[in-house]
Amino acid sequence: MKRWFVTGAGGQLATAFADILPGEVFLSHEEALDIRDTEAVNTAVRLFKPHILLHAAAFTDVDGAEADEQRAFAINATGTRNLVAALHGTSTPLVYFSTDYVFDGGKDEPYVESDEARPLNAYGRTKLAGEAEALAWARGIVVRTAWLYSATGHNFVKTILAAAQDRVATGSPEPLRVVDDQVGSPTYAAHLASVVLEALDRDLAPRLYHMASAGSCSWCELAREVVQLAGLDVEVVPITTAEIGRPAPRPAYSALASERAIPHLPSWLEGVQECVDELLGVDKETV
Ligand SMILES: NC(=O)c1ccc[n+]([C@@H]2O[C@H](COP(=O)([O-])OP(=O)(O)OC[C@H]3O[C@@H](n4cnc5c(N)ncnc54)[C@H](OP(=O)(O)O)[C@@H]3O)[C@@H](O)[C@H]2O)c1
Repeated sequence: MKRWFVTGAGGQLATAFADILPGEVFLSHEEALDIRDTEAVNTAVRLFKPHILLHAAAFTDVDGAEADEQRAFAINATGTRNLVAALHGTSTPLVYFSTDYVFDGGKDEPYVESDEARPLNAYGRTKLAGEAEALAWARGIVVRTAWLYSATGHNFVKTILAAAQDRVATGSPEPLRVVDDQVGSPTYAAHLASVVLEALDRDLAPRLYHMASAGSCSWCELAREVVQLAGLDVEVVPITTAEIGRPAPRPAYSALASERAIPHLPSWLEGVQECVDELLGVDKETV
């Protein structure tokens, strides 16, 4: 029976893994194990003796990282180094999850693994540093993904659905104003988790991979899809990144594709449909 050590247990991706992992699973929560604590990480990993370590913990607050890059670095880079150190002397693969925000957005077609990473913001810089730590491990695998959402945790799809439901409930005519000049690959965490497992089953070689839902859209297009799937009569109005004025710069274009022979995720439209159905409690059997 396989033994899985999963970091970031309270997060979206780790929760998606927890739903489908076969075998014995150690779900590591921040309050019980802070990955910045070298000794504690070493003890926990060596005691459990995982066959595979899925490292989904991260400092994911993009604007927060801009305000405190040191803290983001300690979690995203040093935390990853601690996990790798705890695996020395074993042959356990570590899968580190990274982001489309390692790119500067200058391309107009999907970024592939051989494209040069040039992060625009602190979050991207610290995640890129974490990639280097993971790839320093002989069994290190880096999976870059993008714009993650799921029925758990905080994410854009849930925020838009809640805001649109609120407009309808209160009869507010106020439209939702959503950024339309950033394009990416919204990725359903459940789809990513299942494709990562499928790839690991096929003995994924230790290197860098892009795994995101197929296709791309802007945040505004994603919001319109959510509102329409939920059957809500709420207007979604496009605005610019400059109008919203967030602290961290974001790439204008960061869709991902892969040049490696790996299993592919379904389209972002399928992912959003599944997630909205789950959030609305739609029973697949009865549709
Ligand atoms: N979210 C996205 O849009 C996105 C896009 C591209 C890539 N990614 C990457 O995909 C991975 C999973 O993302 P996600 O959306 O599932 O993240 P998430 O929901 O924000 O969860 C991250 C988890 O990391 C844990 N964590 C934070 N600091 C920690 C520490 N010092 N020690 C131990 N655990 C700590 C948090 O624990 P607490 O809940 O206890 O604080 C949280 O459960 C991350 O590597 C992220 O960088 C995410």
